[in-house]
Amino acid sequence: MRIVTVVGARPQFIKAAVVSRILRHKASEILIHTGQHYDYNMSDIFFEELDIPKPDYNLGISGGSHGSMTGRMLSAIEELLLREEPDKLLVYGDTNSTMAAAIAAVKLHIPVYHVEAGNRFGTLTSPEEVNRIVTDHVSTCLMPCTESAAAFLAKEGLGEKTQIVGDPMYDAFVYYGSKVTEKDKNSLFSFDGEKVPRPKEFYYLTCHRQENTNTDDKLREILKAMNSLDAPTIYPVHPRNKDRALRVSKDLNNIILTQPVGYLTSISLVNDANKIVTDSGGLQREAFFAEKQCVTVLDFVVWPETMIDNRNQLSSPDKDAILAKLDKKQSINKQYKPFGNGHSGEKIVELLLSE
Ligand code: UD1
Ligand code: UDP
Repeated sequence: MRIVTVVGARPQFIKAAVVSRILRHKASEILIHTGQHYDYNMSDIFFEELDIPKPDYNLGISGGSHGSMTGRMLSAIEELLLREEPDKLLVYGDTNSTMAAAIAAVKLHIPVYHVEAGNRFGTLTSPEEVNRIVTDHVSTCLMPCTESAAAFLAKEGLGEKTQIVGDPMYDAFVYYGSKVTEKDKNSLFSFDGEKVPRPKEFYYLTCHRQENTNTDDKLREILKAMNSLDAPTIYPVHPRNKDRALRVSKDLNNIILTQPVGYLTSISLVNDANKIVTDSGGLQREAFFAEKQCVTVLDFVVWPETMIDNRNQLSSPDKDAILAKLDKKQSINKQYKPFGNGHSGEKIVELLLSE
């Protein structure tokens, strides 16, 4: 069987690493990278560290408005699908790359297999929500990570196409987590390229969503909250908001801004942090996997399963609100494992190769 996989952004490289490792033994996979993420430490580093095969195609499409980026991708992916004639298309998550690939494939009658289907935030102002809804509704097979995501799909009449597979991000956390070295732990670099020493105790912040970073005021509030904590915060900054983050944090001396880090370094930061503050869908699950308390600075729930027993709490981008949430105690039920058993990759491949 010939499978075309389309990836483009950091979280998709991680999921593709998990699935490709298994898929390549059983089928022919053609990997298309849209180019949505393109800096070395937003793209290549993941392929190198996670041993992902070099993409067969890199479309070099990034930036611009959502419509422009999606349109350019759609057209380029269509051309490649016509050339490669795959039996199926495999996509992950909710980025513009995901939606563009799904639309291109369905129009050519190529069945779309969607991993991480079903999450709903309840707001079409989120570009990720739009991407995921569209992708789900043109897919042949929907592979949500969790029961709550499957329930949304059932409510939208997609229950019959749905199979819960667990979370490939959990597979990645388990598999690659055991490969973290001292070198990975100490791979923090400033934007001047200087090595940054890692403090013994720290908080881990990631913040890149347009909701929090399109203006100074919200990002500044989040950084002020982190700056007032009892240990420094390590903040690897996404290129989207690098200039703004450097500017608004100028007078804050308890925050260490770094270049984006590779996945192994990120996992080590999750495992060793006191607590985590984020607006990332991936980071909030990784905090949960590592049993670290998390505050998510968004006004909608992305992963309801993590919100139990104060393990992950929503906060507005407001200093006092964030600090109040960080102060609450979490409790951990070790029996509660809503993200599967670390073998979702196998289930995804099984579904992909059935029929
Ligand atoms: C995208 C996804 C988001 C996901 C995030 C993962 C969409 C709509 N959003 O958001 O769901 O959480 O990826 O990180 O697809 N840029 C660089 N270098 C890079 C990558 C991006 O400079 O390597 C710049 C781009 O030129 C662009 C900006 O960052 O101006 C935003 O990038 P984009 O891919 O549009 O969105 P993300 O915020 O990364
Ligand atoms: N991540 C990383 N380096 C960083 C920040 C994040 O490797 O500097 C990893 C982290 O494991 C996270 C994943 O990239 O789960 C995806 O993160 P991102 O926040 O970019 O995307 P989202 O999960 O919000 O779609």
